[in-house]
Amino acid sequence: MFALRAASKSTLVRGFASSARVDYKAVVLGAGGGIGQPLSLLMKENPKVTELALYDVRGAPGVAADVSHINTNSKVTGHAADDIAGALKGADVVIIPAGVPRKPGMTRDDLFNTNAGIVATLADAVAKNCPKALVGIISNPVNSTVPIFAEVLKKNGVYDPKRLFGVTTLDVVRASRFVSEIKGNNPKDVQVTVVGGHSGPTIVPLLSQTASSADIKGETYDKLVHRIQFGGDEVVKAKDGAGSATLSMAYAGARFAGALLRGLDGEAGVIEPTFVESPLFAGEGIVYFSSNVELGPEGVKTIHPLGKLTAEEETLLKACIPELKKNIDKGVAFVASS
Ligand code: 2OP
Repeated sequence: MFALRAASKSTLVRGFASSARVDYKAVVLGAGGGIGQPLSLLMKENPKVTELALYDVRGAPGVAADVSHINTNSKVTGHAADDIAGALKGADVVIIPAGVPRKPGMTRDDLFNTNAGIVATLADAVAKNCPKALVGIISNPVNSTVPIFAEVLKKNGVYDPKRLFGVTTLDVVRASRFVSEIKGNNPKDVQVTVVGGHSGPTIVPLLSQTASSADIKGETYDKLVHRIQFGGDEVVKAKDGAGSATLSMAYAGARFAGALLRGLDGEAGVIEPTFVESPLFAGEGIVYFSSNVELGPEGVKTIHPLGKLTAEEETLLKACIPELKKNIDKGVAFVASS
């Protein structure tokens, strides 16, 4: 079905038969929420998306009607609670921001009890309706929700580690912005690799590997690392009970979805840090880890090693590992016991 659909829509470019796809279906699960709405808007702007399906337990048809008036090429459909299958059928890329956000004083892990079940339900629907889609998980705690999603796909016999991603792009976006604030340069020229996971001490910026940030030392370095690791808390505090980052997260989610689509399309050299099943720390019992990943037509193409680390980065990594292992094991245990 997947291959047929792809082949039937191949194009003839300048007289040569080309296998390049001209159309992609993207789906947002949780489109009615704080991240889902701006994410849907940004996905409507992506020229590679020709079909955009928006699903939520509440509000998705309204968001879809609104976004559908934007005069870009994609057709938008809204799907209410009882029509997740209609949203997912034929999907190439599924982005999932569904779930509840943090309130002041909460860690991402405090969301586990509510969001774990939501993510497991959505994973089951993906397994049954579009097992070949590339899936990007935004729902927190990402360090646990990605393993939950994987375990549910495994139970359904359709897990492909190349097709499941935790979205850690906001950490990369924040790192770039915060470095540029210190250096006074354009953040577009500051690409910082951030590895590990997506919460507090599991977020490990490799500032030594970027020319703009390599010379940041001492107290400025410590403050910068802390700000990258806990940038989400700044937003939670400023929103004062009204939730966590939605707009910057939507930006990050759309950027990552765009990268998945560019990879699907066969573009070479599309590399983003993302939380995937990874061999890098598997020896230490850490099955999922975020590092630079080259994306391709099958999803994960190459997982890059971390490269040379400074003593400070080694220390950050040491703090990341046990916390990340705890988060991953909690996700795996949730599915095993349910
Ligand atoms: C953040 O980093 C919401 O996890 C998200 O702000």
